[in-house]
Amino acid sequence: MSDDKIVLTGIKPTGMPHIGNYLGAFKNSIDLSQNHKTFMFIADLHALNAVHDAKVVKQHSYEAAAFMIAMGVNLENTALFRQSDINEIYQLTEFLMNVTPKGLMNRAHSYKAMVEKNTAANIDIDSGVNMGLYTYPILMAADILLYNSDIVPVGKDQKQHVEFARDIAGYFNNIYGDTFKLPEPVIGEDCGLIPGLDGRKMSKSYDNTIPLLCPTSELKKKVMRIITDSKTPEESKNPDESTIFHIYKLFANATETAALRKRFLDGGMGYGEAKTILFEKIDSVLSEPRAKYEHLMANTKEIDDILFEGAERARKVASKTLAKVKKKMLGL
Ligand code: ADP
Ligand code: TRP
Repeated sequence: MSDDKIVLTGIKPTGMPHIGNYLGAFKNSIDLSQNHKTFMFIADLHALNAVHDAKVVKQHSYEAAAFMIAMGVNLENTALFRQSDINEIYQLTEFLMNVTPKGLMNRAHSYKAMVEKNTAANIDIDSGVNMGLYTYPILMAADILLYNSDIVPVGKDQKQHVEFARDIAGYFNNIYGDTFKLPEPVIGEDCGLIPGLDGRKMSKSYDNTIPLLCPTSELKKKVMRIITDSKTPEESKNPDESTIFHIYKLFANATETAALRKRFLDGGMGYGEAKTILFEKIDSVLSEPRAKYEHLMANTKEIDDILFEGAERARKVASKTLAKVKKKMLGL
């Protein structure tokens, strides 16, 4: 597919993504960048409501950028930059505050989750909620609207935020006339819930994840920790109930997948062997991106150069949008 649609996405710098994050959220934007004009930024401002250590924000930002580059984002089509490097973002956020109803923020999933947690603990409902968290969706709407984006690939958890950006664009357009395009969220094709090492949903909060680009030795240790049932090597096994097979499918091609499925069904393969097959597959698929990632992290100047150039490209569009908004809101 190739069309004129503009793709935009933000990557919150929160440390190495796991397989679930990658397939559920980032892969889609990397794929779209292959044939669309794309704005992709490291959402460092969005990290600030929770992370109050500049060193950590900076390090995680490099990691996020290195990760996207290593996983193959198309840098010809893509302006890859740091959110905080574009001054227009702070300004547009301030402008959008004034057309955004407070009630909309009250309905945001992440804020509601905090309120529910506080209510259950019988403490003030806004305990631990700073204004960065509360107004998070307005900053995100500014991100999306600043670059005239049409398509916003995000994970399921971010869909509501993109819908809010549409709502906020709508409020603005109603008052000031047609100004912003209404962006569409694009949620990755349903790769199902990716199971973690213990068979539950892979999630940082369950400590059952496989980080995508970790050293081989760590990857091996994790894969060997996958929990299985107690079938003997001889017994036939149901591939569709196996975490090993589920994850294998995500990395292998159709022929390889069919071959492993048959080995599960036929019996004669122990779980230890199946795990080794899985480990070797992931390890070989990811060896090139891992090397690229490690190279970039050892040479952060290369990342800086890419981000610098991306910011220049992004600013060209951002300054035009902001000028339009200033004119409409202030007459200047
Ligand atoms: P975690 O549960 O590890 O904290 P997040 O809730 O931060 O992960 O999820 C970030 C994104 O990654 C979400 O958009 C979600 O769609 C995707 N994602 C996370 N875990 C999985 C999973 N196990 N299977 C599929 N997608 C996932
Ligand atoms: N909020 C997103 C997340 O937590 C990151 C993000 C910030 C983003 N701004 C965005 C995603 C704009 C898409 C578009 O993952």
